[in-house]
Amino acid sequence: MTTISKRAQAIQPFHVMKLLARAKELEAQGKCIIHMEVGEPDFNTPQPILDAGIAAIKEGDVHYTPPMGLPALREAIAQFYQDKFQASVSPERIVVTPGASGALLLALAAIIEPGQSVLMADPGYPCNRNFVSLLEGKNRLINVNASTQFQLNKELVEQHWNNQTTAVLLASPSNPTGTTISKQSLTEIIQFAEQKQMAVIVDEIYQGLVYDSLPSTALSLADNIFIINSFSKYFSMTGWRIGWLVVPEAFISVVDNLAQNIFLAASTPAQHAALAAFKPDTILILEQRRNEFKERRDYLLEALPELGFTIPVKPDGAFYIYANCENLTDNSFEFAEQCLEQVGVAITPGIDFGNNSAEKYIRFAYTTSLDNLKEAITRLEQFIAA
Ligand SMILES: Cc1ncc(COP(=O)(O)O)c(C=O)c1O
Repeated sequence: MTTISKRAQAIQPFHVMKLLARAKELEAQGKCIIHMEVGEPDFNTPQPILDAGIAAIKEGDVHYTPPMGLPALREAIAQFYQDKFQASVSPERIVVTPGASGALLLALAAIIEPGQSVLMADPGYPCNRNFVSLLEGKNRLINVNASTQFQLNKELVEQHWNNQTTAVLLASPSNPTGTTISKQSLTEIIQFAEQKQMAVIVDEIYQGLVYDSLPSTALSLADNIFIINSFSKYFSMTGWRIGWLVVPEAFISVVDNLAQNIFLAASTPAQHAALAAFKPDTILILEQRRNEFKERRDYLLEALPELGFTIPVKPDGAFYIYANCENLTDNSFEFAEQCLEQVGVAITPGIDFGNNSAEKYIRFAYTTSLDNLKEAITRLEQFIAA
């Protein structure tokens, strides 16, 4: 029997999976668990998207599409950038992928040589660093805090750059902090990256979910960058597994080759379904949901500090609040475990997002109804008082 590769062994499971498994066990015993650990909308896929997917299946649209995606969908995505952001992007630069996950893998596979490093914020989305190490690249996790909205800025990037750095990976709004990067920081990072011939990858998966400003894209600032996006979050299509990648002109052909070899093409019914995602009747539904997310966020922004949590920066996007819990515990993982056991509220400890003061933070996902959130706050109050 052969052995498991070191590369595979280096991939760590998420701690929250253990909590999730325990939550399921407790539910099986009849306990009522409030889920605030889940990073996906609680809403179903909007009806017009469902209808388009069902129609495609009924019509027999179940065969492979070209590896880069259905031409009509690539055009619709290009049109979306034009209509919403007045950014002109050729459909040829757009690759339809199995979720943002597929897009991240393609972008990183296209640029990393073994031993080269990728700069990214800590805390950040955990899969990023696992993809980099799978490709034999090195992660340079940069500690970020409230002073930069938990985002990288040019000073931090410059400080950690060396001639082995191949890319900087940003996410705005970010998971787990829900904060966005300022236009100024983004512009300065892009300029610095150009000087150093380093790639810029911006994960815009939470682009449509912003509450205090209008959505934006880094494509309004530069062309020569990689953009990750997805139908998972704003469009409520997590299980369809569909997203996209925008690549610089020079990478079109290599990414086509990689897509053919890694996944052949994204799901065909999902691509047909996604064609309905930008339609006005769909957007109407999605904007109502965005308002509901905002209401939930605003409720938690008031309720959590009353329990003793500190929210160092107001999160302006995604559906997460990254709260400091050091007034309540010195171990957020144990706190999350006990909270689940004692009052049935599932939350994600900071450890899943990096090493930077992780024991002092909890991520609350407001992917459950306002009534559930209110019940969760009552239970948390009891838990803290006990
Ligand atoms: C920042 C970020 N990027 C990428 C993903 C992957 O999303 P998907 O593959 O469902 O599009 C997620 C999922 O939680 C995320 O939070």
